[in-house]
Amino acid sequence: MPEDPNALAPTVWPASAHRDADDVISIGGVSAIELVRTHGTPLLVLDEAEVRARARAFKDSFTAAATAHGTTAKVYYAGKAFLSAAVARWVTEEGLNVDVCSRGELEVALAASVDPSRIGFHGNNKSVSEIERAVQIGIGTIIVDSAVEIERIAAAAARAGVVQRVLVRVNSGVHAETHDFLATAHEDQKFGMTFADAELAVARIREAPGMEFIGLHCHIGSQIFGVAGFRESASRVLELHQRLLAGGSIPLLNLGGGFGIAYTSVDDPTPIEQLASEIVAAVADGCAELGMSIPQLAFEPGRAIVGPAGVTLYEVGTTKDVRLDSGASRLYVSVDGGMSDNPRAALYGAQYSARLASRAGTDAPALARVVGMHCESGDIVVDHEYLPADVEPGDLLAVPATGAYCISLSSNYNHVPRPPVVAVSDGRSRVIVRGESIDDLLARDAGISTNEGAR
Ligand code: LLP
Repeated sequence: MPEDPNALAPTVWPASAHRDADDVISIGGVSAIELVRTHGTPLLVLDEAEVRARARAFKDSFTAAATAHGTTAKVYYAGKAFLSAAVARWVTEEGLNVDVCSRGELEVALAASVDPSRIGFHGNNKSVSEIERAVQIGIGTIIVDSAVEIERIAAAAARAGVVQRVLVRVNSGVHAETHDFLATAHEDQKFGMTFADAELAVARIREAPGMEFIGLHCHIGSQIFGVAGFRESASRVLELHQRLLAGGSIPLLNLGGGFGIAYTSVDDPTPIEQLASEIVAAVADGCAELGMSIPQLAFEPGRAIVGPAGVTLYEVGTTKDVRLDSGASRLYVSVDGGMSDNPRAALYGAQYSARLASRAGTDAPALARVVGMHCESGDIVVDHEYLPADVEPGDLLAVPATGAYCISLSSNYNHVPRPPVVAVSDGRSRVIVRGESIDDLLARDAGISTNEGAR
């Protein structure tokens, strides 16, 4: 039980978040009450300075660590965490590249004028037309996920008359989410190739006209704390990298993303500088053991850049004390969003925290569960949190650390429109993704007589 159920844990909230003189939570210099007055609820608020600072921290830390070991490092922002034109501009202005994994993400990055040479294209099932488009626009790298793709990329490169740079994604067998380092590289999942298959694929790429093999790629999972998983995976992938050097030079090694963030005050993520220096040192050690020079490095953080910069604001609609068989009771607090704007609790059992945003509560903390408005009992936003017992309908509730994989995983379940995303900076807010209206939802229904194609 927290001493103060109104306190904002610094690891979980954007650096700018605080309670103002009226005890209203303010983010990026804008109060929650003003944000909601202007934009309504639910609302995802993204702190631009926080995103930029995190992007810079990754770039600076990995660059410094790489320089210390005589190499360079590139950082790609993994757009799947949350991509809009504004975010693509912020991260590229801070010197990052962008990793996309679908035609839609690619088009957002292009629409934001991201230089195509700074984009990497992922996916275990890129369509022929996606590959065509990527090659045509001069995408920097394509990360090959299966042997089938090789001929497709070669054909697209031939048609475009270009040499396409590619990486090959391998499965190192390290499954870092559970810190269960499997002994073999034959993990039962869809991404990447086994080391044996990757060797064959690299040989084919090296023979194929119109393709240049530039390195191996490996991504071991997401929401990873510490460096042990990265260290183990790097040491395995470096052995393959060394074997492949027999067939030609390999300039790059991409170790993917997955850096964990604090969702509640219990989480204790490793600082970015420490991650960078320890991971790069591990790669340098591995290379020294294998007697080879250290390649250029690349990393792909998504969650760790946008996650802590996002705060979702909801309005409390109902509260309910539910008495349990044990005699204990739980306070259910229903808000006007839920699994449609943040399905992570329902999908992964993810834990979040929550705070009253429009005022500080006065009562002692009560064990609460914040739930959404969807017709589903698993529609949980925050499974357990101590909120001031006087929380009541009309209060604004803020859920921090919702910048990553919330809006990007959002849906229209129960025909609920998706909320807007607003950026805050220097005391101002602006919409960066418009919210949906009921009209937007109806407009897609061809059975509604006013819509085109209805008859
Ligand atoms: N690179 C690759 C190849 C990836 O597959 C991913 C994430 C990333 C980078 C970025 O990982 P991050 O740094 O954001 O952890 N929906 C899940 C997370 C799925 C991650 C998919 N791949 C969640 O909400 O936890």
